[in-house]
Amino acid sequence: MITTSGLTKIYRAHRGRGPEVVALDGVDLHVRKGEVYGVIGQSGAGKSSLIRCVNLLERPTSGTVTVAGQDLTALAGRGPRACRELRRARSRIGMVFQHFNLLSSRTVQDNVELPLEILGKSRRERSAKALELLDLVGLADKARAYPAQLSGGQKQRVGIARALAGDPEVLLSDEATSALDPDTTRQILQLLRDLNRQLGLTVLLITHEMDVVKSVCDSAALMEKGRVVESGTVGELLATPGSRLASALFPVGGEATGADRTVVDVTFHGEAATQPVVSRLSRTYNIDISILGAAVDTVGGLQIGRMRLALPGRYEDNVVPIGFLREQGLQIDIPGREAAPLTEGARL
Ligand SMILES: Nc1ncnc2c1ncn2[C@@H]1O[C@H](COP(=O)(O)OP(=O)(O)O)[C@@H](O)[C@H]1O
Ligand SMILES: [Mg+2]
Repeated sequence: MITTSGLTKIYRAHRGRGPEVVALDGVDLHVRKGEVYGVIGQSGAGKSSLIRCVNLLERPTSGTVTVAGQDLTALAGRGPRACRELRRARSRIGMVFQHFNLLSSRTVQDNVELPLEILGKSRRERSAKALELLDLVGLADKARAYPAQLSGGQKQRVGIARALAGDPEVLLSDEATSALDPDTTRQILQLLRDLNRQLGLTVLLITHEMDVVKSVCDSAALMEKGRVVESGTVGELLATPGSRLASALFPVGGEATGADRTVVDVTFHGEAATQPVVSRLSRTYNIDISILGAAVDTVGGLQIGRMRLALPGRYEDNVVPIGFLREQGLQIDIPGREAAPLTEGARL
């Protein structure tokens, strides 16, 4: 639904004479229709630049952006016809902002109607659509209120209703919950999830909070210094040994290092029971195994469990027991070590 290919954005301060800032450095992103896709990264990683390039609020330096099969970059900056097409394409992309960007002099309903005015809809159409959307976001009774009379969460609901006015297929959200308290954050995320399900809306959301990704995203990407350094569905990430996103999505706890012991993270999906595996391992190799940490959780709708074990001795001494764990079909991660090939135990 959204594809960026080699997307690059270079800013130049001081009217083009200052130093260059490479905000995006060849970003390839692929967001599938109907999914909620989270982009996470620290401040300055290029997240806002990415989202602004996706709807051409910002002109990419190079690379392409395709939304719903249409190459938006091909339309930008061309003749009047291309401009019209770009405007139309952009009206199908809703945008939600961190600071809501509501007009304080307009009522809630008039704020939601604004994009419909720009699209030239009749008064009757605008009013019907705005009231329908306010009902959808749970604010039917606030149509005549002014933004100043609303809580932060309510303002963001208005922002979301306004973003939906043009019947978008895609909703972009830049830190939509960063200005909200944790309870309100949860409610807004739930609303985005509901809209995604009810309307089949594709959602690309930017955040610096792992919890946001964890609670609503089907897929995620990690950005650093203008690049995507990891990406995939939550399931793929959790199944990738050494994935930083996966361990941040699902921290297991417990010290990862220690003298004369080998720390092993065991990940199991669904209802696989690890307890018998651990005791069998202990019996078979006659070793004492400590459990350093364990957690079971639902991440991106998948039930998974993780356990951090310590085996006595160095890694080299434990290749056979680790191979045994892998043979049980468990995903094994050795923190601080490159993923060992699956056959390593068998070879020795
Ligand atoms: N309009 C701009 N002019 C110059 N530099 C910018 C501009 N917008 C962003 N930057 C720079 O680009 C980099 C990425 O910024 P941004 O996309 O806002 O990151 P994020 O949203 O992840 O915090 C930062 O170094 C930032 O200072
Ligand atoms: Mg930002």
